[in-house]
Amino acid sequence: MSPTRILITGGGRGIGRAIALHFAQPGVKICVAARTSAELDKVVEEIEAKGGEAIAAQCNLRDHGSIEAAVFRAVDFFGGEMDLLVNNAGIFDIKPLDECDPDMIQRFLEVNLIGAMQVTQEALPALREAESACVVMVNSTAGLKGYSGSTVYCATKYALRGFADALREELAEDGVHVRTVYPDVTDTTMLDGLDIDRSDADSPETVAGVVARAATGEDDRNDIPVRE
Ligand SMILES: NC(=O)c1ccc[n+]([C@@H]2O[C@H](COP(=O)([O-])OP(=O)(O)OC[C@H]3O[C@@H](n4cnc5c(N)ncnc54)[C@H](OP(=O)(O)O)[C@@H]3O)[C@@H](O)[C@H]2O)c1
Repeated sequence: MSPTRILITGGGRGIGRAIALHFAQPGVKICVAARTSAELDKVVEEIEAKGGEAIAAQCNLRDHGSIEAAVFRAVDFFGGEMDLLVNNAGIFDIKPLDECDPDMIQRFLEVNLIGAMQVTQEALPALREAESACVVMVNSTAGLKGYSGSTVYCATKYALRGFADALREELAEDGVHVRTVYPDVTDTTMLDGLDIDRSDADSPETVAGVVARAATGEDDRNDIPVRE
């Protein structure tokens, strides 16, 4: 069943924007959440141009009050039920552990892990209200394999996988599915300024297609790599 009430974190650009536009069509309500209002407003316009309904919820995942307000706004817009939550927002950098200062470690944990946990917590009542719902985590191959220069990022993504696996067990009786998608190198601004070869990168639209198959249950595996 295709979702019609969708909250996407990090929906202002990159993979989150591509997911939003993948689902945008008449009868579908989408809330995109991130910090940069200008990007969110542009995605809202793009969704509306495809016939969907959308709102922007400005939100900093490092701030619990901001998360509460954003999810409240989304659920209100949806009329109390949510079919799909995509925990997509994330940050990345390449740095040896010696160069990762305490603020960076804190920031990565707050955005990539704690933010996703708190958004999910706030969304749970509305997800349970829906007849059938799904939470999709946009993880990374870095949640399956350790990479040099990515100790902190990998730690957050491995932990996000653990969160998803435990949440799936906890929600087994509630009709809320939990699936994790693992993109490889994807051509987005996340990689700007970093020494990463993008010649073989996937497009955000390719990742969005995989997220959509996870969300609809067309691919009902718990863990879904973008590159098989
Ligand atoms: N690109 C890749 O190669 C790749 C590979 C594997 C996995 N992934 C994963 O895919 C997901 C999306 O990444 P992307 O490539 O699309 O990156 P992106 O283009 O940089 O987009 C990241 C999104 O997250 C939002 N975000 C960042 N910090 C935030 C905060 N504190 N509060 C709220 N929102 C925040 C950003 O918006 P604001 O900055 O406006 O807040 C933006 O909308 C991430 O989880 C990433 O780890 C990416």
